[in-house]
Amino acid sequence: MVSYSVEVSGSDPRTVTCGEDQRLLDAFLRSGVYLPNSCNQGTCGTCKVKVLSGSVDQPAPSETVVSADDQAAGHVLACQSTPTSDVRIEVPLDAGTGPRHVLRDLCGTVHEIRELADDTVALAVGIDEPLDFSAGQYIEFRVPGTGDVRQYSMANPPSRSDRLEFHIRRVAGGRATDGWIFDSLQHGHPIEMRGPWGDFVHDRDVDAPMILLAGGTGLAPLKSIALEALSADPEREIHLYHGVRHSRDLYDVDFWESVTRRHSGVRYVPCLSREDGADRRGYVGDALVEDFDSLRGHVAYLCGPPAMVDAGVRACKRRRMPGRNIHREKYTPAA
Ligand code: FES
Repeated sequence: MVSYSVEVSGSDPRTVTCGEDQRLLDAFLRSGVYLPNSCNQGTCGTCKVKVLSGSVDQPAPSETVVSADDQAAGHVLACQSTPTSDVRIEVPLDAGTGPRHVLRDLCGTVHEIRELADDTVALAVGIDEPLDFSAGQYIEFRVPGTGDVRQYSMANPPSRSDRLEFHIRRVAGGRATDGWIFDSLQHGHPIEMRGPWGDFVHDRDVDAPMILLAGGTGLAPLKSIALEALSADPEREIHLYHGVRHSRDLYDVDFWESVTRRHSGVRYVPCLSREDGADRRGYVGDALVEDFDSLRGHVAYLCGPPAMVDAGVRACKRRRMPGRNIHREKYTPAA
C-alpha cells in the first residue's frame, strides 16, 4: 500500500506515516500524536488544519464548517482528508493539548444488554485488551453489513477499561438501532469498534465544584466523568442535572440516588420538560439558573442535543461561569 509522511510544523514538529486511503486524523491518533478532534464526521470543524505543502483529497467541506476564505487559504479537515503526496500541515495556535491515547481497532463481545428506559438500553461490551481512554471520550461501532459507523460515549470510568458501557437510544427506522442493536444483537455477539475519539474529556487537574448537564443519553460520558472524579475525591461537589422529556425516558435514577447517599457532595436533579413527576419540570439550563446565583469558580460539562447544550452554555454564562470552564459535547442521536 502506498503511504506518505505527514508532518505537523511548529516548535514541536511531529511526523507520522499515513496510508493513501487513511484519513490524516486517524494516522496521527493511531501514532499517539494529538490533533484536535471531536465529531470525526466533517461537521464540527475542530480538526481544521492548514496544508502548507503537498496535497490531500477530501470531499468539499460545507462553508459553515470551513469558510470559503479558509478553503482558499489551504485549510482542510483532518478527519476527512487523505494524502496524495507527502504533506506538511499547520495546526491552529490555540489548538492546545488533548488526550494522547492511541487510537486502535478493537474487537468486542457483548456481555449484557439491559433495558434502562423506554427505547433505551445499556450495552456492556468486553474487549480484547484494555482500552486507554479519558472519561468523556467515545468509540465508533461498525454497523455490520452496512459500511456505516455509529458513535457512542463510554459511560464507565477509564479505570474499568476492559468492559465498556454504552447508553443507546432507539431511533425509529435507524440502521444501527432498529436494524441491529434493538433487533438482533445478543449476548456473545462480536462488535467491531475503533477508538477512543474526541476532545470532550474530564480535566483531572481541576478540582472545582462540578456542574453536569445531560440531555437524554448524553448522560453516558458525564457518568464516566463523575465516577472518575468521585474515585479521586469522594467528597467532590457535583451537581448533576439530567433532562428528558417524559418520566418514561428517565433512567439510572436508583443508581444516582445511591450515589447521593454514598457521596454527600453529590446532588442529582432529574428534569422533565414535558410532564410533572420528577424533581423539576422544565429544562436543565433553567433549573440551573434557578438554583445558583453565581457559578464563578465552578466547572461545567454538558452533553446532549445541540439546543440543550446551547441553552445550558447560556445558563452557565448568565451565572458568570467563564467560558474556559465550560466543556461541551453536542450529539444527534445516531440512527
Ligand atoms: Fe469534526 Fe473533523 S470536522 S472532527
